[in-house]
Amino acid sequence: MSNDLRLGVNIDHVATLRNARGSAYPDPVRAAKLAEDAGADGITAHLREDRRHIKDDDIDALMAALTVPLNFEMAATYEMQAIALRHTPHAVCIVPEKREERTTEGGLEVAKDQNRMADYIAPLAEAGCRVSLFVAADEVQLDASKRVGAAVVELHTGAYCDYHYEGRFAERDAELDRLRDGAAFAQSLGLEVHAGHGLTFETVAPIAAIPAVKELNIGHFLIAESVFMGLAPAIHEMRRLMDAARA
Ligand code: PXP
Repeated sequence: MSNDLRLGVNIDHVATLRNARGSAYPDPVRAAKLAEDAGADGITAHLREDRRHIKDDDIDALMAALTVPLNFEMAATYEMQAIALRHTPHAVCIVPEKREERTTEGGLEVAKDQNRMADYIAPLAEAGCRVSLFVAADEVQLDASKRVGAAVVELHTGAYCDYHYEGRFAERDAELDRLRDGAAFAQSLGLEVHAGHGLTFETVAPIAAIPAVKELNIGHFLIAESVFMGLAPAIHEMRRLMDAARA
């Protein structure tokens, strides 16, 4: 596709549904292949420390089955680093992880942890993974991300989406301005800019319209919407909305 905005489809919540019954279905790899056929430019999967959705075998199977790049999301632990180095996926996206959270709540505190992050990222980058840090659109965190050797930052769109659905439109618009400024600043540092978390048909357009943003990673809403319209049509509609916003 000639469009310069990629869509990464996160298939974690297919595994959530499978694990709710301890069954063999629905298979996240089947969903990933369907997403590929529907035009996803990449597949994202988050192997959490507690394995609440994606499991180690899913990562093995995704690495074997995918023809589009895998964006492997993980916390900055040494267990996860070893798994990433074993698979060397196209991209590794490092996220903060708390056991008690329902989903990834905030961005990484890169600035407070620069020496450790630099040491942590180096072997992943040397192995050929594009390392991305999931951060808030905050100049301090973006500067630090560049300094520790990340190639990519993924901007957290969760607060923007929450404000939208809570009807707090002034705060939503302020958050959108922050995302726009942060994306431009990150690009000026030479970082590739991605964005994601909580995006839906209603909220995607203003984010897709930010010129510096090159990839959106979207999961929960697409899997939820697939109950009603099917996964391929949901991906097609998201792609259509992204393209329209970009044009
Ligand atoms: N990007 C990152 C870094 C994430 O942690 C997540 C959630 O796993 C997403 C994007 C996708 O968020 P959602 O599932 O809400 O679309």
